[in-house]
Amino acid sequence: MGFHSKEAVPGDGNLAEFQQMFALSEADLSFKILGCSDGPASFTAEMHERVYRVISADPFYECTLEQVQERIAATYEIVIEQTRSNQDKFVWERIKSPDELGEIRMAAMRRFMADYEQGKADGRYITAELPKLPFAEKEFELALCSHFLFLYSDNFSLEFHEEAILSLCKLAQEIRIFPVLDYNAEVSPHLAPIRKKLSALGYENSLVTVDYEFQRGGNQMLRITT
Ligand SMILES: C[S@@+](CC[C@H](N)C(=O)[O-])C[C@H]1O[C@@H](n2cnc3c(N)ncnc32)[C@H](O)[C@@H]1O
Repeated sequence: MGFHSKEAVPGDGNLAEFQQMFALSEADLSFKILGCSDGPASFTAEMHERVYRVISADPFYECTLEQVQERIAATYEIVIEQTRSNQDKFVWERIKSPDELGEIRMAAMRRFMADYEQGKADGRYITAELPKLPFAEKEFELALCSHFLFLYSDNFSLEFHEEAILSLCKLAQEIRIFPVLDYNAEVSPHLAPIRKKLSALGYENSLVTVDYEFQRGGNQMLRITT
């Protein structure tokens, strides 16, 4: 099982949230998308219902459905309680309270669980972990990674981030990573050196302000084109 932080930064975990975090247009949705580190979000399930093409890759998918249910039951209260005790780190506008967050998030996880076994059989949930993912060069038009890279900068080194992001650059024409903050809501110390490295290698990269802010100050994604 891959890294699983207790300092989780919870999101809604649904398609609407992903659309905002990554500023996804209708044209973007029609791309073949790699969802990296999606965990129990309902993005892939909802996209599949709408006949869009997403493959999610996460070490979490080594779990059986039963283990997923156990993991969610064991961590759900902890994550919501952590959010409650760190309320000042979040913006309570779109979502009004930790309880409402919990309800939205649980609805997304239920949707994920309903799709999980069929999705695994279809090859839409792949057990894999950065820095190396088992896909072909430029297999995807777009790769998305939310709430993993940069967020856990204390746990994952600059070298890990470099290797992971460069491997995503091999797999997709465009990469979007959200947020660029760590879980203390500070800009990741890895961001500047990664951008320098990307530019030196000729990859265009920019910070894009998006219409989503839950972690206070976290309203930017890193966009890389290859
Ligand atoms: C906080 S969750 C984010 C879930 C989802 N992206 C979201 O925004 O709601 C972090 C995810 O990163 C996954 N993860 C941990 N180590 C990983 C690795 N080496 N490569 C890819 N994903 C990893 C975890 O399993 C977990 O599902």
